[in-house]
Amino acid sequence: MKIAVVGMGMMGQLHARTLSGLPEVELVAVEVDESTRTATQRDLGIESRPALTDDLLGSVDAVVVTLPDHLHVDTTIRALQAGTHVLVEKPLAASVTDCDRILAAETTPGRLMVGHLLRFDERLRELKRRLDAGALGTVRHIRIHRANSAATGERLAGRVSVVGFLGVHDLDLLLWLTGQQIESVSARGRRVHSNTWDVASATLDLTDGTLAQVDNHWLLHRASARSLLAGVEVYGDRGTALVDLSTSELELITDTDPRSVRVDSHNWTHDSTVSGGALHRQDAAFVEAVRTGSPVPVTGHDGRRAVDAVERIEAALAASG
Ligand SMILES: NC(=O)c1ccc[n+]([C@@H]2O[C@H](COP(=O)([O-])OP(=O)(O)OC[C@H]3O[C@@H](n4cnc5c(N)ncnc54)[C@H](O)[C@@H]3O)[C@@H](O)[C@H]2O)c1
Repeated sequence: MKIAVVGMGMMGQLHARTLSGLPEVELVAVEVDESTRTATQRDLGIESRPALTDDLLGSVDAVVVTLPDHLHVDTTIRALQAGTHVLVEKPLAASVTDCDRILAAETTPGRLMVGHLLRFDERLRELKRRLDAGALGTVRHIRIHRANSAATGERLAGRVSVVGFLGVHDLDLLLWLTGQQIESVSARGRRVHSNTWDVASATLDLTDGTLAQVDNHWLLHRASARSLLAGVEVYGDRGTALVDLSTSELELITDTDPRSVRVDSHNWTHDSTVSGGALHRQDAAFVEAVRTGSPVPVTGHDGRRAVDAVERIEAALAASG
């Protein structure tokens, strides 16, 4: 299977390393920046081209879009129109309008997958299985928080709000875990080092009455040993689930099962030969869907729903002054 990874920045490099470890995958990298292209060819040994030409597009089975958010739309539409399978990094696009343009181009359902990585974290998959089985009883309250270093906010230089960059992970997670829709949103935020929102605290009422809190910021001091501080808390009337995303443990305590479980919780790992973690599970699931024609595990409609949630929170932030 031949796959083009388009955009060899931070995520493109990670996908390329992960995909190159999968059997029967041949990669070509597409990168506009010549020095990055040269480094990719040298460090990863992958053929590297300056543009996704029609000829190249016609020669691949799948495209992985790891461009900046606002560039997802055109490349994803081109690839879908060429009949190619596409894995696009989160968020599906920078706006719901662009998501709708992409979905309109997916004339064959199941060709498009969105890289909502957290769905491939074993702790969160286990939590989803337990929630689906009713292990926590009726869920009353969910709190999700995710913070990054100030260096991330400064790197993105106002291109995207913290809700669009970090919150989109948590909003997809919330909707996937609960299977609910968002009924109403209120939010407060702060602009600290950019003209976008750098701190956002959103309260969401879900259709089943669950009250959810999603908090995001990128204010961790750049000298902190942590680049990520994140966690999930789910409170039901028969159980509590706590996932501290900075440890490798899912602490899940219920009336019948007062135990903690330890699982592989890396987002991405690479030793000399093996790529692991959630990114490996995600990319392997995409390759399997392309190979067998089976349904992709995270659809374009899922991606649109998360972007819609981001826009609703950003509207609430703007309305809050
Ligand atoms: N899943 C996650 O946990 C996660 C984490 C970080 C970023 N992301 C997402 O991944 C995507 C990429 O983010 P990043 O941090 O890797 O960005 P980046 O800025 O590091 O990389 C983007 C790359 O695209 C290249 N590029 C720009 N225009 C191009 C073009 N027309 N053709 C070819 N190459 C082009 C740039 O030169 C750069 O190398 C974003 O959508 C971001 O939101 C996901």
